[in-house]
Amino acid sequence: MLQASPAAQWPAAPGEADARCGVPLARVKQALARFGDGRPALVIDVARVRYNARRFAAAMPSVRPHYAVKANSDRRVLQALAQQGVGFEIASSTELDLVRSIGVPAAEILYSNPVRATDAIEYAARRGVEWYAIDCVQELGKFAALKPDAKLYLRIETSNEGSDWPLSGKFGAGEADIDPIIEEAVRLKLDVAGVTFHVGSQCRNPENWRTATRSARAVFERLTRAGLRPRLLDLGGGYPVQLTEATPSIEAIGTLIGQELAQFNRDIEVIAEPGRFMVADAGCFVAHVIGTALRHGQRWMHWDAGVFGGLFETIDGLRYNLHAERDGVRVPWYVAGPTCDSVDVCMRDQLLPENIVEGDSIYVLNAGAYTTACASQFNGFALPQVIVIDTRTD
Ligand SMILES: Cc1ncc(COP(=O)(O)O)c(C=O)c1O
Repeated sequence: MLQASPAAQWPAAPGEADARCGVPLARVKQALARFGDGRPALVIDVARVRYNARRFAAAMPSVRPHYAVKANSDRRVLQALAQQGVGFEIASSTELDLVRSIGVPAAEILYSNPVRATDAIEYAARRGVEWYAIDCVQELGKFAALKPDAKLYLRIETSNEGSDWPLSGKFGAGEADIDPIIEEAVRLKLDVAGVTFHVGSQCRNPENWRTATRSARAVFERLTRAGLRPRLLDLGGGYPVQLTEATPSIEAIGTLIGQELAQFNRDIEVIAEPGRFMVADAGCFVAHVIGTALRHGQRWMHWDAGVFGGLFETIDGLRYNLHAERDGVRVPWYVAGPTCDSVDVCMRDQLLPENIVEGDSIYVLNAGAYTTACASQFNGFALPQVIVIDTRTD
């Protein structure tokens, strides 16, 4: 494992919780006091988003980031990233429209969802999108019929061990799938122009990038031997942020990736698809306690947002640092969302002050990614409010 990062150089207001959060809590509270409408809210700081883009670029100077829109598709977030020269990775026609609506040229957009509906490919092709991920023979037929000049990049399976939100088991061509895909692409005269992978989201095991990059290099060689011209290496997403567990820094990951890239031909283009890294620590999610209960001797607290209202990633055990505004003894609580569904339990045995009561706010730190993006109105509860601030100018 690589070393954990030194604390990022970023002005933080005083207070214990701020050290764990990319956006100063004092600014979060200020924004809520001004703009909050009582719903759960995500306060997101575009100054921190811009900073994250610069930090990523500095850690990996030869890698061009393409932001994974799915992590947080707020327009102002996308604009902040576009201003920093970041490209975009999309999964749907709606994300394509959104990115185009802020003036991003088609050449800066990658379509990395490996299986798309025929009309989604037609839609993107008509708007000039050139790059599309594939991971199966079946998808090749769609391109032969709809966009024979597409630049395709082959997503390969790779280890997701040590990632808090693994993505393996769905996409990614396995060893036995790769040759049939290459043969079919050659037969259909398609341009398989690159290789991609995803090491798993919130990947705290940098070795995953080493293994994946080496596998990609072997696939480059196979493509070349088959007469194809691979020229894009897409390192995917997965770059982690500091939550509750020890986490390697982007600089440490960048150093490892740099060593591996030195083994590639210099004339290839290298890109990445960071989602979480760009936005997670720019956001603080604020929920409110709507009730507490004692059931079978267990303390429960119910919030106005749970698994369905923004804290979706807790369902698979992702843990956030929390800040509560009481200093009582910390005791184990079960934390649930407001819905009737028994799946709507975000945390078990979460240590929080014993004197929390209905009406209290709870601050979920570094929660700018995959929170509002995954929220629904299930059971009739309102979507969280999004409050965008800019701590550089506001
Ligand atoms: C194809 C693809 N690229 C990039 C990402 C972004 O990953 P992360 O937010 O972990 O950086 C995802 C996340 O699901 C993805 O599916």
